[in-house]
Amino acid sequence: MNTSHLGISLLLLLCLLSSTLQVHSQSSPDALSMKALKASLGNPENLGWFDPDPCKWKYITCWNNRVTKIQISSHNLTGSLPVDLKNLSSLIVLEVTYNQLKGPIPSLTSLRSIRLDYNPYISSWEIPESIKDATALQIFTADVANIWATIPDFFGRDTFPALKVLRLAMNNLEGSIPSSFAKSSIETLVLSDQNSISKLNGSVAVLQNMTSLTLVSLYANNFTGPLPDFSRLNSLEHLDLKGNQLTGIVPFSLVNLPKLSTVYLNNNFLQGPTPEFDKSKVDSDIGDGFNSFCLDDPGVACYSRVNVLLSIVESMDYPVVFAQSWVGNDLAVTLNSGRESHVTLDVSNNHLYGKVPNFRPSVSVETAGNPDVQNYTKVSPAEAPHLSLPRIPPSTDDLDRNSNASYNLGYVIVAVYGLIIIIGLGVFMYVRKGKHSRYWRLLRFATNNFSDRKILGRGGFGTIYEGDLPDGSKIAVKRMKAGALNEQGLKEFKSEIEVLTKVRHCHLVALLGYCREGNEGLLVYEYMSQGSLSRHLFNWKEEGLKPLEWSQRLRIALYVARGLEYLHGLANQTFIHGDLKPSNILLGDDMHAKIADFGLARLVPHKGRHSIETRLVGTLGYIAPECIVTGCVTTKVDVFGFRVILMELITGKKAIDATLPEDMVHLIPWFRRMHTNKDTFRTAIDETFGVDEETLASVSKVAELADHCCTGEPSQRPDMNHVVNVLSSLVEVWRPVELVYDDIYGINLNRDEP
Ligand SMILES: *[C@@H]1O[C@H](CO)[C@@H](O)[C@H](O)[C@H]1NC(C)=O
Ligand SMILES: *[C@@H]1O[C@H](CO)[C@@H](O)[C@H](O)[C@H]1NC(C)=O
Ligand SMILES: *[C@@H]1O[C@H](CO)[C@@H](O)[C@H](O)[C@H]1NC(C)=O
Ligand SMILES: *[C@@H]1O[C@H](CO)[C@@H](O)[C@H](O)[C@H]1NC(C)=O
Ligand SMILES: *[C@@H]1O[C@H](CO)[C@@H](O)[C@H](O)[C@H]1NC(C)=O
Ligand SMILES: *[C@@H]1O[C@H](CO)[C@@H](O)[C@H](O)[C@H]1NC(C)=O
Repeated sequence: MNTSHLGISLLLLLCLLSSTLQVHSQSSPDALSMKALKASLGNPENLGWFDPDPCKWKYITCWNNRVTKIQISSHNLTGSLPVDLKNLSSLIVLEVTYNQLKGPIPSLTSLRSIRLDYNPYISSWEIPESIKDATALQIFTADVANIWATIPDFFGRDTFPALKVLRLAMNNLEGSIPSSFAKSSIETLVLSDQNSISKLNGSVAVLQNMTSLTLVSLYANNFTGPLPDFSRLNSLEHLDLKGNQLTGIVPFSLVNLPKLSTVYLNNNFLQGPTPEFDKSKVDSDIGDGFNSFCLDDPGVACYSRVNVLLSIVESMDYPVVFAQSWVGNDLAVTLNSGRESHVTLDVSNNHLYGKVPNFRPSVSVETAGNPDVQNYTKVSPAEAPHLSLPRIPPSTDDLDRNSNASYNLGYVIVAVYGLIIIIGLGVFMYVRKGKHSRYWRLLRFATNNFSDRKILGRGGFGTIYEGDLPDGSKIAVKRMKAGALNEQGLKEFKSEIEVLTKVRHCHLVALLGYCREGNEGLLVYEYMSQGSLSRHLFNWKEEGLKPLEWSQRLRIALYVARGLEYLHGLANQTFIHGDLKPSNILLGDDMHAKIADFGLARLVPHKGRHSIETRLVGTLGYIAPECIVTGCVTTKVDVFGFRVILMELITGKKAIDATLPEDMVHLIPWFRRMHTNKDTFRTAIDETFGVDEETLASVSKVAELADHCCTGEPSQRPDMNHVVNVLSSLVEVWRPVELVYDDIYGINLNRDEP
């Protein structure tokens, strides 16, 4: 054997070796565990896992033939996670969010990222001690994952030196935040909205030592006591503490944080001056609800007597029972009525704790039934200087200028005594406010708690928010706020649901869901990325948009016409929209237009009659004349509204624009005047799109159609069938290639209930 032969044999041997290795490598050491996973899922077919080698499965990542990542979120998976998963000793990422998994969570030790969110059917579980073995853990998220009991105390730096994200919102946790959190590297802490009866409670003082925090969300719990000092939380950007029972003064250290961009403190019992956040940098909600800042003006100090009272309750750590009955700065007025020489401070049967401060001898204090109140002890003024009330002189800024200092405490006591009665009501309202369905909560999550930054628009009866779903898709959520659901609001809410659950069409915006709680209502729609037609027609400059081209306008007109045609007859019943205008026409990707806002829509009871008696509602400038006179509504009303839209598409002018010269304020008469001759008509056309001869011909045809729709006598107006025919022939001439033939009627046969 010469050397070249040796070389070849070696090569062959190597090839052989490597191919056997290859064969060998096909059965990953994790294959059994992964098959166990597949077998324990109720519907593994959703994942398309068929290859014998789990490393070739979708949503699975391997390294060195070992499974390192399982990312099977949002597959509607049922079944459970098998205990065998613990054999996956290289697994570092486990993501199973938005499924319907049941059963316990296996113990996993190698993990760096665990995401279990939105598995509401997992049987109630506690975070297991065994998770402590995953010492490299960086992310643990389990919102809506049916976790019970208390938050374990091992999330500190000692156990998890790298933990950055801890999310446990909307579970059934109770008890308080463990003090071990003080020593943690957590940046994102989300414990909001627990479902348990007692919710999370106790103080939030531990936050002051969690110096890595950037996002804190503890809203809708039962936290009490004052806000801590925030001066060491220099990275904090988002703080959401709304809907707790926090009391005391909002510290300056919070107001002054350099990176703060959102802060929600509403629906607590905070006191003292209204904090003044920099509006240009901070999105804040501190006001409505039960907070009792002394003055509405931010940054303005309270009257001195209020400060006195605040300093008393400070010594008791601002008991919630006082704060709930706080009356802002009007204290001095309230107090004026109580000049008794002997008063009783009755705080019995509460949850006060700490030392009872030193009161005048004429004050008797009832503290029975407060298990944590230390026995009444006299404290000398030296020990508690801020309690030495009689030494504080009456101040000129007090409303009650006649009082003398010795009455101060009497007033205080009487106020407290009297106001405790109010509490019952306050708590009752608070509890009512807190009861929202899970669906409601999910929507609140999607819209970032109905953040102002998510507002897409406002209507008469509600605000529309953008919502982000976990799969990256978007929704639009219309919130009809408390108070808005009065008689008319409720009517519109119901009408919208009634109509949109009966009609489905690709040119009508789809209702995806809705819920109502008391006098608040939420409607969920498909998200229309380009916003309203009025935005593109009238506000394009301010919004930095491109003006619409004629071909786009023509197609928008056709789509709206098709939507109306369907409403008026192609659906087995006849509906009237009743409020057609550019702000109710929404554009999606590719400027695909859909009709929205069916709050005023009506079902015509008998097909063929096409008209109903109804109260006049709708928008001036778009209402048909016969309805202003008789108050009736027919499908021709929509035809009338539609032709105003045609005129707006042609001219780029609004139906009524009070900023224009008098003869141009009302679009319809002006348009008809301009349309009488070819030269004036040319000048009426929106100059933002170029008008060559071909365009002009098309525009003129549409103008004729608009004129025809416009005739005063309803019976002479064409119906939408005719309008659709005219427009589709124009669109065809204009851009034959763009016409979607399978979309002639655009009927969506999928009629699933939302
Ligand atoms: C997991 O490991 C245990 C022993 O630690 C073994 O009994 C079991 O069969 C393994 N399961 C799988 C699916 O490999
Ligand atoms: C999820 O599964 C349920 C049945 O378990 C089914 O009714 C539902 O339609 C599924 N949803 C999706 C989005 O596949
Ligand atoms: C909150 O705590 C109070 C007492 O501190 C208790 O009465 C109440 O039931 C708790 N839960 C809620 C949801 O308010
Ligand atoms: C918090 O709630 C628990 C019940 O879950 C209760 O035992 C405890 O006393 C409460 N603590 C405070 C400070 O209210
Ligand atoms: C915060 O840390 C300081 C020491 O750095 C300690 O004295 C204080 O008790 C801690 N506070 C809380 C609420 O953990
Ligand atoms: C408080 O003191 C009174 C006597 O002054 C005593 O009878 C009572 O038992 C004490 N209460 C407690 C809780 O220590």
